[in-house]
Amino acid sequence: MYGFAKNGDYLRMWRRLTNNTISKSKLQANFNHVFDRESRELLARLLRDGARLDGVDVDDVTYLYTINVMLSILYNRRCATSSDPLVQEIRGISNDFIEFGSDIFLNFFPILITFFAGKKRRATALQDRLVLYIESLVEEVRQKLAKCEQIPCVAAEFVKVQEKEGITDMGVIQTCGGFTLAGVDNSAILLMNSAIILANHPEIQDRVHHELFATVGPDRLPEQSDAEKTPYVEAFLLEMFRFRPPGFFGIPHCSTEDDVYEGYRIPGGASVVLSVHTLHFDPTLFPNPDKFEPERWLSEDGKSCDSSKHHWAFGAGRRICPGQFVAERLLLTTFARLIWAFKIEFALSPQGTSVHVPITPIERINTRPDPFRLRFVPRRENIKDVIGLQ
Ligand code: HEM
Repeated sequence: MYGFAKNGDYLRMWRRLTNNTISKSKLQANFNHVFDRESRELLARLLRDGARLDGVDVDDVTYLYTINVMLSILYNRRCATSSDPLVQEIRGISNDFIEFGSDIFLNFFPILITFFAGKKRRATALQDRLVLYIESLVEEVRQKLAKCEQIPCVAAEFVKVQEKEGITDMGVIQTCGGFTLAGVDNSAILLMNSAIILANHPEIQDRVHHELFATVGPDRLPEQSDAEKTPYVEAFLLEMFRFRPPGFFGIPHCSTEDDVYEGYRIPGGASVVLSVHTLHFDPTLFPNPDKFEPERWLSEDGKSCDSSKHHWAFGAGRRICPGQFVAERLLLTTFARLIWAFKIEFALSPQGTSVHVPITPIERINTRPDPFRLRFVPRRENIKDVIGLQ
């Protein structure tokens, strides 16, 4: 995972290769069908189970969805159900990684790891488990390439340039492993928190739906090309990134040399953390920061998003998240299609009372909510025909 590599040629090479495979234009050219197919599959699944009075397990539905998007883009693979061993294993690995990542002190003061030998052993075992998982997926890609099969995916692009760039097999595996975990978890966490916020704010849901319906009408799903005409959908996503990003501290950085910033001395080798929380809840940048308010991102005439405003959910500078365009594309497509098709409501208890799901509190290093259930009630009769899947 080059997220932990030092600045230098190796990092620059991987960032260049990443840009060659998942830039905005590459995604549009090569992976449009993935976003389209997987979001239809998600809607079909919610149509089947979502309107049950006791709701659906949102964690289960969301993870299957983000796993399928990432497996398709990275390895040209997908799984039909959450019980597929490929899904089960990546969920297990991701849960353990989140548990490790939550250990804030070890992240920020890596020197402490010396005193936690057991933890280090478990971390190494977890890393080995991830390598084994990704190795088999990359191996499948290699075998297909060897048979001259067309296999449109990121891993195939990396394998093809391995020799020319001098990349080891482990280099490909580690980078693909980092992409898999980062993409699956961050996107799932943001989607789950969005569903909770929408259920808590029916008025925001109705406004997003109204804008989508006025642009798209009743007979087709929203497309990427509709985005320009639906600024409130984008404003909703931007406000999600501000209000509940998957994490509030990013990956800790390390200063390369002694520095002084606004009178503060930063020694070389010190851990430096971008406090996304401080920025996102600074009332001088975002008045009334505790209020969830998509309107704050709109231009004065309300016809577009205000491009002078900024959030830091993807980090900043040289190490800014290289998967940003995948995430934005995935999330925008999902919101637009989901809210066009369904009303998101709290589930009902056997006694018929509403089971409230509170907005995830900010008390851990990440904002993954505890498992919860919600209802997805179809807004129209024709949704099944519009989705177009069996
Ligand atoms: C909602 C979705 C996502 C969020 C909020 C997110 C956020 C972040 C953040 C905060 C960082 C640290 C940036 C820094 O150090 O300044 C990061 C790094 C990274 N992300 Fe993401 N990410 C998301 C999705 C993805 C996806 C889909 C991929 C891969 C396809 C990805 C791959 C990576 C990699 C490889 C790094 C390390 C980059 C480096 O150190 O040079 N992320 N991400």
